[in-house]
This record gives sequence, structure tokens and C-alpha cells, in this order.
Amino acid sequence: MRQAGRYMPEYRSLRQKHSLLELCHTPELAARVTLQPVERLGVDAAILFADILLPFEPLGLGLSFAAGEGPQINRPIREATQVLDLPRVEPATDLAYVMEAARLAVRALPARVPLIGFAGAPFTLASYAIEGGATRSFTLTKRFMYAEPRAWHELMLRLAELVGAYLAAQARAGARALQLFDSWVGCLSPADYATYVFPHSQRALELARASGVPVIHFGTDTAVFLPEFARAGGDVIGVDWRIPLDVAWERIGPDRAIQGNLDPAALLAPLPDLEQRVRDVLDRAGGRAGHIFNLGHGVLPETPVEALQHVVEWVHGG
Ligand code: CP3
Repeated sequence: MRQAGRYMPEYRSLRQKHSLLELCHTPELAARVTLQPVERLGVDAAILFADILLPFEPLGLGLSFAAGEGPQINRPIREATQVLDLPRVEPATDLAYVMEAARLAVRALPARVPLIGFAGAPFTLASYAIEGGATRSFTLTKRFMYAEPRAWHELMLRLAELVGAYLAAQARAGARALQLFDSWVGCLSPADYATYVFPHSQRALELARASGVPVIHFGTDTAVFLPEFARAGGDVIGVDWRIPLDVAWERIGPDRAIQGNLDPAALLAPLPDLEQRVRDVLDRAGGRAGHIFNLGHGVLPETPVEALQHVVEWVHGG
């Protein structure tokens, strides 16, 4: 999940001097931000500081982050013909600065703290590429998917290959786990997931897995199609809080590890209430091997740092 960010004073102070993209583009700064949550919270793994949308720059889609408005894609994909015109991207060279940040972070991290690399899943990336920014309804994405199925599958195929190669390059740069973020896939019906997304997520996950490190397959709002989502791949399935952890694990199957699933908003609750919610997640995992405690989605900017410190302490204390 997003670990670094606006809830942390040391991150905010760097952001006063540099834009989000500047932080991402400068390996020394990206490595420094990667370390901030490890130092401040004592979490067991570091997540590389980057963004899932960075591949849009070499893809020629144009990327910017407007203050308070989230990402903006300046040349969104609206016509089928645009898909075939997309340039081929070589992540190891076109996104070399990400790999350099990973190498620097690995060097600076204590040996016991592994680095997690990540990428956006084909569907989540396609939705930003088509919508041009954040959306609630995914109208343009779904219209493109239904009206231009050939172009849709071509786009998804290209994104799957790109993302697979990007994840593998991060593993070569020292990442010891890889996470595929399908943050918005829950907007789809199970049938549309199976038809329009499943084979492409499967391909991206297969390419990532070939690098030899464990892969985490994360989505939100996936409760109703979890078995299918898990079948697409991933050694670990990341779930959000909309389903109790034990129910999710049953749907995923006992052969898979699970990551989750505290509601990030629980960190805004009074501490005794927060502790009870943390204990509920741990109780539902029941001490079984293969549970990675995490939030069900990213840390909210309003979160008090102390609440996160308490959560880490409680989880470590068992
Ligand atoms: O520790 C870390 O934070 C790791 C780095 C990281 C970022 N983005 C940096 C970032 C990670 C893992 C991401 C993933 C990401 N980015 C996802 C998938 C995970 C998820 O949250 O669902 C998505 C969908 C994006 C796209 C994106 N980037 C959005 C929607 C936003 C705007 C969010 C907002 O609240 O305005 C961003 C900006 C972004 N990327 C921030 C960070 C820390 C926000 C802070 C800032 O502007 O400085």
C-alpha cells in the first residue's frame, strides 16, 4: 500500500521543495522517501517510492499531478487507432531511474527489511489512460471496452507485457517481492472481469513470477469475484476491508497467502477502537502462516503518525 505520503511531516517537508514527479525522477530522493516509513513506523518491508502511472511518460500519454486533484493524463486514449500507435516501452531503460532508486533503497535499508517493487495492473492503468484522470463511474473505460473489444485487448496485452517486464526489472534491481495494483478492478462485474481483464492480469503476473520473487496481487472491491481474481495469479492476494479476512481466505484457498485488510479509516478512530479492529484482523487470520498484516488500501493523508506506530506495535506484539 502507499506507506509514504502526506500524513508524514518528513514527506511533506520534501514535497514543499519538490513536485511528486521530481521526487520520483530523482533516485536519491525516491530512495530517501522509501526509507521514511521504515524509520518512522518500524514496518517489516519498504515499498519503493514511485507511482503506478510513471510508464505513461515513455508511452507518450503525458502525466502530471495537479495539486489536490490527483493524476492528469494529458493525451488520453479515446480512439482505437491510438492503441496501435503507442510506442514500445523498454522499462529497464525507459524507466531506468526507478531501478536506480530501487538499488539505492536496497543499499540503504537494513538487511532484514526487504524492498517491495510494484506496478499498476493492466486494467487500472488502462482506466487512467482512457479516462485521463480519476473517475467514479469508469464510463469512458467501459464504453471503450464494450465498443472496441479488439483495441481493448490489444491495449491490455501491451500493458501486460510492459508491466511484466517492469516488475522483472525491479526484481533484478533488488526488489524481494513485487506487488501488482489493480486498485479499481472492483468496478467491473465478475463476467466482465473474466472476459476483459483476467487473461491480461494473468500474463502480467506470470511474467513477474518468472523473476523468481513472490508476487502480491492486490485489488479493492474484489469480494464477489475473489476466486477468479486469485486464479489470475499471485503468491499473495491483497484484499480490502469490505470482506472479513477469514471469509476472503476461504474464497482464495488455503494454498495462497493473504495480505490485509484493516480499513485505513480505522486509523482515525479512538485508540481503543483502533486496537480492537486490529485484533479482529489478527483473530481472523488465526495465527496461520501466510498472513501479511496490512491496510486494505493506502494510508489516508489525515492519519496521525502515532496511530500507525501503535498498529505496528500491536501487530508485532501479537
Ligand atoms: O510509499 C509509497 O507511497 C509508495 C509509492 C506509491 C505512490 N503511489 C506515490 C504517490 C505507490 C505504491 C503508489 C501507487 C498508486 N498510485 C496507485 C495504486 C495504489 C492505490 O492507492 O490504489 C494508484 C491508483 C496511483 C495513482 C495516484 N497517484 C493517485 C490516484 C494519486 C493521487 C492521490 C491523492 O490522494 O491525491 C497519486 C499521487 C501519489 N502517488 C501520492 C503518493 C505518495 C500522493 C502524495 C503527493 O501528492 O505527494
